[in-house]
Amino acid sequence: MGRQWLSPCKVNLLLNILGRRADGFHELETVMQPIPVHDVLEVELRPEGIALECGVPELPVDRRNLVYRAAEAFFAASKVTGGVAIRLDKRLPLAAGLGGGSGNAATTLLALNELHGAPLDLRQLSELAAALGSDVPFFLHGKPGLAEGRGEKVTPLDSFAALAGLHIVLVHPGFGISTPWAYRELARFPAALNGAPGRARRLIDSLQRGSLSAGLAECYNSLEAPAFEKYPVLGLFQGYFRKKGALATLMSGSGSATFALFGERTEAEQALADFPAEFGTPGWQAIATL
Ligand code: C5P
Repeated sequence: MGRQWLSPCKVNLLLNILGRRADGFHELETVMQPIPVHDVLEVELRPEGIALECGVPELPVDRRNLVYRAAEAFFAASKVTGGVAIRLDKRLPLAAGLGGGSGNAATTLLALNELHGAPLDLRQLSELAAALGSDVPFFLHGKPGLAEGRGEKVTPLDSFAALAGLHIVLVHPGFGISTPWAYRELARFPAALNGAPGRARRLIDSLQRGSLSAGLAECYNSLEAPAFEKYPVLGLFQGYFRKKGALATLMSGSGSATFALFGERTEAEQALADFPAEFGTPGWQAIATL
């Protein structure tokens, strides 16, 4: 039985895309908030090899899995000899915009580094993380973060005073959205593709000052444009949550998960309880306190 590591998810309070780059990625500014809803990784050092186990049939357990690649990258960069067995207890939905896979990769790097007495520093871990995926570096910090570039340039932030004690509802509709698809389709929505920079700074300043309504007014996700065109029900979810008293509601990342923030736990619970009567049982749901 190896040691267990919690691998949290995130929501993007803001995902403001600033344009398409020559390398095919998109320049962006995003503000990410870690959410205490987790996958669990059990990590046990072995004499050799990388063995990954995961109960979800859709997830490969070879090099195609980010956890496997993270372990491989750790051993190559640290020159540590040995191997590892990892059991991934997948509780977060796939292709949800919640960063589950990115978080798993970052958690694998952190776990292996700690179990080997920290041969790599945070800068080295961040480089490995960025090579694994744009959102992976964010998950090394365990804090809210501003991410720029293609998402890999992370500035960790103090917790947002204005969000403390709020309740977040997460709903997954039962279908996923492919991240490359969402970015590709964005080409047809020039206003969403070419956002004006500065929104992230305004959001961060307001939420750190404790000015909730000014901060939440900056919540925005450029990728809702293509996602809502193909899946209008995602827009209806937000109308529903607003009617139920949500202070803010947005699609997270490239979707398909929607989040909604509530001031009162009872409101959040009621919104989830009444959701199936409007839309049917969601594919997955969660509730957490910030
Ligand atoms: O970096 P990551 O592997 O998470 O990106 C997945 C895909 O999402 C990329 O191959 C690219 O198509 C798209 N993407 C993008 N711009 C970003 C991040 C991701 O176009 N900033």
